[in-house]
Amino acid sequence: MLSAHSSAFRPGRSRSLRLSERLWDLDWSQHLPWMLDDVTVELGSFADALPFIQAHYARIFNAEGNAGRFLGDPLTSAKRRFGDEMDVLMLRSAGATIGLLAAHPLDWSTYYMRTVALLPEFRDRRLLTRLMHLTYEPLRAAGVERIEGDCSPANTPMMRMLVNEAFLVTSTINSERWGSMLRFTKFLREEAQEVFARQYCALPSKASHPLRRPLEVVPERGNS
Ligand SMILES: CC(C)(COP(=O)(O)OP(=O)(O)OC[C@H]1O[C@@H](n2cnc3c(N)ncnc32)[C@H](O)[C@@H]1OP(=O)(O)O)[C@@H](O)C(=O)NCCC(=O)NCCS
Repeated sequence: MLSAHSSAFRPGRSRSLRLSERLWDLDWSQHLPWMLDDVTVELGSFADALPFIQAHYARIFNAEGNAGRFLGDPLTSAKRRFGDEMDVLMLRSAGATIGLLAAHPLDWSTYYMRTVALLPEFRDRRLLTRLMHLTYEPLRAAGVERIEGDCSPANTPMMRMLVNEAFLVTSTINSERWGSMLRFTKFLREEAQEVFARQYCALPSKASHPLRRPLEVVPERGNS
């Protein structure tokens, strides 16, 4: 007998279910939209994301006028079908898309955040940090045990966000597609983080420390 989870379609719905819906019954539309100041986070689709990607990604990832920077990755029908499997969260302000986050399951308990980008004028307002926070509980409740994502070691804002959010470096990747990247993992199951720290790390990881107060820097006065 087919269980509710084994069907690719739900009665009354015309579109195919995304992978996270089929695996975990995770329906982001039950949680969204979220408001972050003047920005709303809405559930979108890969088709919704494409115009933003096509209009802005080359500039955002510094590939504009620099065709050889990344290996060409044309929009094949397989890529489009893969895109349709992803969860796409669209960030919108004043009716326009200003950023997006696209993610998908990597396996039965791992969620992979594949891409995130904001227009420059919307950066450094803690939008990504706050958005990440909002995703943890729905993912945990759906049974996701870890979130993973890749980041260039030179990408300071992303590196800061990941380390501040208690993501740990769990591997390094050198690929013909993106170059040298660090793979980060955030454990949503506390005991998994403890096991990782106990068995594989010389020092306890940040999540087992109480949060530190932000560093206060007081400028020193010179002698006059
Ligand atoms: C990565 C990105 C999505 C971060 O989004 P954001 O909303 O600006 O990030 P936040 O405001 O939450 O900031 C995260 C951290 O980076 C810091 N930060 C933000 N902009 C920074 C900058 N230009 N230089 C240094 N640090 C910066 C913030 O202070 C914060 O650290 P803190 O909490 O220790 O103060 C955004 O910078 C972006 O779109 N970059 C281009 C695309 C990209 O690199 N995507 C990720 C690929 S892995």
